[in-house]
Amino acid sequence: MSAPFYVLKHEHRVIERALRALEGICFHLRAGQEVPLTDILFLLDFISGFANGYHHFKEEKYLFPALQRQGIIWEGGVLEAIEQEHKIERDLVPRLLTATKGLEEHEAAAIARFTAVASTYISHMLGHMRHEDATLFRLAEEMIPSAEQHKIYDEFKHAEHEVGLDTIRLYEDLASRLEEKWAI
Ligand SMILES: [Fe+2]
Ligand SMILES: [Fe+2]
Repeated sequence: MSAPFYVLKHEHRVIERALRALEGICFHLRAGQEVPLTDILFLLDFISGFANGYHHFKEEKYLFPALQRQGIIWEGGVLEAIEQEHKIERDLVPRLLTATKGLEEHEAAAIARFTAVASTYISHMLGHMRHEDATLFRLAEEMIPSAEQHKIYDEFKHAEHEVGLDTIRLYEDLASRLEEKWAI
């Protein structure tokens, strides 16, 4: 696998760590155990800043146009389907945030609401990344000429620089730390 797709796949593995943490948090909430709200808010910030704001953004801004330049059509095709999945995932973030209300008071309805939205997010995101790993990245690697792949890699580096390497490392460390703390 060449460099730009390796980067995206690596980010999928980082996102999976955060999803395992979220799944573990849901398990502990359902079991009536104490989960600090700050850890949940850290995860929501990760989803919003890293998964949506950074990872999905790079795919949409650099990878999709590169595939379109190779003749992959948007409408009714894999790109439109994947962008639609990104939209569903983005729309779930404010719902997750709203659903944190009442968690600190251990309200049963709040726990049921939050864990339901979180489970929807987890299964959607896992399916989405499988879809990309199995279809989109393979297609991209086959179709995009190597000079263009180098260009995408440079664009990813530029995006990394824009967000800041320190911020990205912080997000990666956060995903690992919360996975270690909460995953079951
Ligand atoms: Fe994606
Ligand atoms: Fe992705």
